[in-house]
Amino acid sequence: MQRGKGMKFVGDSRISAESKPNIPKDYSEYPGRTEAFWPNFLLKEWLVGSVFLVGFLSLTLAHPSPLEGVADPTDAAYIPLPDWYFLFLYELLKYDFASGPYVLFGILIIPGLAFGGLLLAPFLDKGPGRRPHRRPIAVTMMLLGLASVIWLTYESAAAVDWEARAEENKPVPESDIEIDQEDPGYAIFESNCMSCHGEDLSGGSAGPSLIGTEHSPEEIGDIAKNGIGSMPADQFTGSDEELKQLVDFIVSVNEQAE
Ligand code: HEC
Repeated sequence: MQRGKGMKFVGDSRISAESKPNIPKDYSEYPGRTEAFWPNFLLKEWLVGSVFLVGFLSLTLAHPSPLEGVADPTDAAYIPLPDWYFLFLYELLKYDFASGPYVLFGILIIPGLAFGGLLLAPFLDKGPGRRPHRRPIAVTMMLLGLASVIWLTYESAAAVDWEARAEENKPVPESDIEIDQEDPGYAIFESNCMSCHGEDLSGGSAGPSLIGTEHSPEEIGDIAKNGIGSMPADQFTGSDEELKQLVDFIVSVNEQAE
C-alpha cells in the first residue's frame, strides 16, 4: 500500500473505520494540516481549556450568583423553585395527569421515558442517513421534546413574579455588630430576653429588634420590668444593679450600631 493512500475519513462514530490500533495513521499527504497529539495538540487543548476556565472564574467573581437569603425553616410561606434549567420538570408536576394520584407519571415515568429515549437513541435509530429529512422519527421526537421543554419552562417562569420574589427573599445583610459576651449585662440578657429578642438583639419570631430602639435607657429598664404592648411584664425580676447592667448592655450594643 502506498503511503497515505487507502485512508478513510470517518465523521460518524457509528461507522467503523478500518483503523489498525496503535499504528499512527499516515497523514504525510496533508503537510501542515496534521500534528502530533502529544505534546502539540494536547498543549493547545490545555491552553484553550485554561483560557475558558480563567474566563469563567472571572465571570463568577464579577457577577456573583443571585442567591436568595438563608433558608428559614419557620417560613411556611416560602415557595421553593428549582433553577431555571429544571423549571420544565417542575412545571410538569402542575398538570393533572402528572400530579396527585398520577404523580409517578410526573416524577418517574414521563421523564424516565424521555431521558431513557435520549440515552437509547443511538441504538433505536441505526439508519445510516445523516440528513434530518432521512431520519423523520428521530428528528420529530427531538423537535417535540425541545418544544415541550421550552414551553414548560416558559409557562413556569411566566407564573412567577421574579422581582417581588427577589425582594421578598433577598439576603439579610450580615450585621457587623459584635456582642460582648463578657459584658455582665449579656448574661442577664441571655437568660431573660434572648429567647424573644434574638442572640444579637436583632429580633426573633417572638419579639422585635432592640437595635435602633426609640426608647431611652430609663424606658428600656421600665419595659424590662413592666412589659410593653404585647410584651408581658416581669421579664426581668433581678436587682436594680443587674437592671442597670442589662440596660447598659443594650445601650452599648445600640451605640455600636449607630
Ligand atoms: C416573651 C417574649 C419577650 C421577652 C422574654 C422579652 N421581650 Fe421585649 N418585647 C417583646 C415583644 C413582643 C415586644 C414588642 C411589644 C409591642 O410593641 O407590642 C417587645 C418590646 C421590647 C422593647 C421595645 C422595643 C421597641 O423599640 O419598640 C424593649 C426595649 C424590650 N422589649 C426589652 C426587653 C428586655 C430588656 C427583655 C429582657 C428583660 C425583654 N424585652 C424580654 C417580647 C419579649
